[in-house]
Amino acid sequence: MDYNKPDLLKARKRTGSETLNIDFKLDEKYIGIGSDKTYHIITFGCQGNEADSEVMAGILELMGFKNIDGEQADVLIINTCAVRENAEDRFYGTLGRLKGLKQKNNDMIICICGCMAQEEKTITKLLDKYPQFDLVFGTHNIHMLPKYIYKKMNTESRVIEVFSKEGDIIEKLPHLRVSNKKAWVNIMFGCDEFCTYCIVPYTRGKERSRRPQNIIEEVKDLVKKGYLEVTLLGQNVNAYGKDFTDIDYTFSNLLNDLSATGIKRIRFTTSHPRDLDEATMIAMQKENVMPHLHLPVQSGSNSVLKKMNRKYTHEEYIEKIKRLKELNPGISITTDIIVAFPTETIEDFNETLRLCDEVEYEGAFTFIYSKREGTPAAKYPTDITLEEAHRRLDILHDKINAGYLKGNKRFEGTVVKVLVDGTSKNDPNTLCGYSEHNKLVNFKGKKESIGTIVNVKITEAKTWFLIGEQVE
Ligand code: SAH
Ligand code: SF4
Ligand code: F3S
Repeated sequence: MDYNKPDLLKARKRTGSETLNIDFKLDEKYIGIGSDKTYHIITFGCQGNEADSEVMAGILELMGFKNIDGEQADVLIINTCAVRENAEDRFYGTLGRLKGLKQKNNDMIICICGCMAQEEKTITKLLDKYPQFDLVFGTHNIHMLPKYIYKKMNTESRVIEVFSKEGDIIEKLPHLRVSNKKAWVNIMFGCDEFCTYCIVPYTRGKERSRRPQNIIEEVKDLVKKGYLEVTLLGQNVNAYGKDFTDIDYTFSNLLNDLSATGIKRIRFTTSHPRDLDEATMIAMQKENVMPHLHLPVQSGSNSVLKKMNRKYTHEEYIEKIKRLKELNPGISITTDIIVAFPTETIEDFNETLRLCDEVEYEGAFTFIYSKREGTPAAKYPTDITLEEAHRRLDILHDKINAGYLKGNKRFEGTVVKVLVDGTSKNDPNTLCGYSEHNKLVNFKGKKESIGTIVNVKITEAKTWFLIGEQVE
């Protein structure tokens, strides 16, 4: 068995080594090895994983594989997420379900990749309890998928190859994008923040920015192909460019240059409050940079923020929000919040509630703290019961939901621009899409509008979405 195991301790190290940019090229011997064969990808986790799955789909298509909807594929890939325990549990649930399929068809190749693959505890558990897999590779070597599949097809041996040290930046990767109007565009990889609760800096490696020209070319090409919206991806997009040694070029420069490509809508995620600068807030005034900012705060308590290693205070965060609203009136702000972080007292939690009132969030992802082995916070003692954690989460939900509704209500009676995604899941006669402020809009309109940006008059606001009618 080929065996190259991950190591979280090694993954923690940050070296000064230079990041190389290498162009992807599919070796001829892999072309066609998938003809008459199918693949299916199951994706957990963040948009970073969704983007990686689109790249793997692109690579598999070049090899001749065809995508199918079901799990009975010749190559089945599970792209995992390690951010919280329930994401891991869902992965093992899926893998358990696949045992029967694998027993029926031993030629099926089950691949496991993504952030969980970067953790040694996953490899140990897989070998011990879930042997129904063939390939494991990590977040730094998805471009080597053809080699691993070829190897597996030609030998009986299982392949486990995970690199603990981040790799080079691979350019010219093929993508099979899910949408033909909205595209994910990676602008950087990795994270150097080391928030004490978070596993991502270990599973994704050090921060590495793509060269501006490569990103600009990609977006120009998307415009040519008829794309209307790009979402720029990075764990901390505000740190974009800080790793360049030869040029002085940061996130605001990139926003300005991408705005000039003529793409209709630019979104980005995720921003880190400490690194969000005035130049970026100003770049957000551009018409095609959307008036929505997701700015994870995690907690409103200064003592918790310090223990989380977030490197800003409640007051500094509020200061940035104030400036952001001054420069971009009407902007919609959403966030991520963790409750029951070890040591969080009721007073700390109340500080979070107070901050929510001050910011007036229009939405939030809220989480109960989940202990991640190998991170500093895993060693912090805690006496918060799960029951108490749920109690805090419920209180927070009520506050966030009130903000959602208030944020939606302000659009009642106005006309908003919607990029129409398709018909609504529940009603084929209703169209749906997102407004510039990132609000889900369900509306009566013309089917021909799908894939275009249209004006919609909002007639009613619900907590989770807006209702409206298309206007000429
Ligand atoms: N880089 C982004 C996203 C990181 S993961 C950021 O900094 O915002 C997305 C969210 O998951 C985080 O914002 C955080 O709220 C949550 N999260 C991360 N680790 C967690 C943990 N151990 N327990 C609970 N929530 C966690
Ligand atoms: Fe995790 Fe913090 Fe990095 Fe976000 S910024 S990925 S929360 S370490
Ligand atoms: Fe999950 Fe990895 Fe994304 S841990 S949230 S898939 S970076």
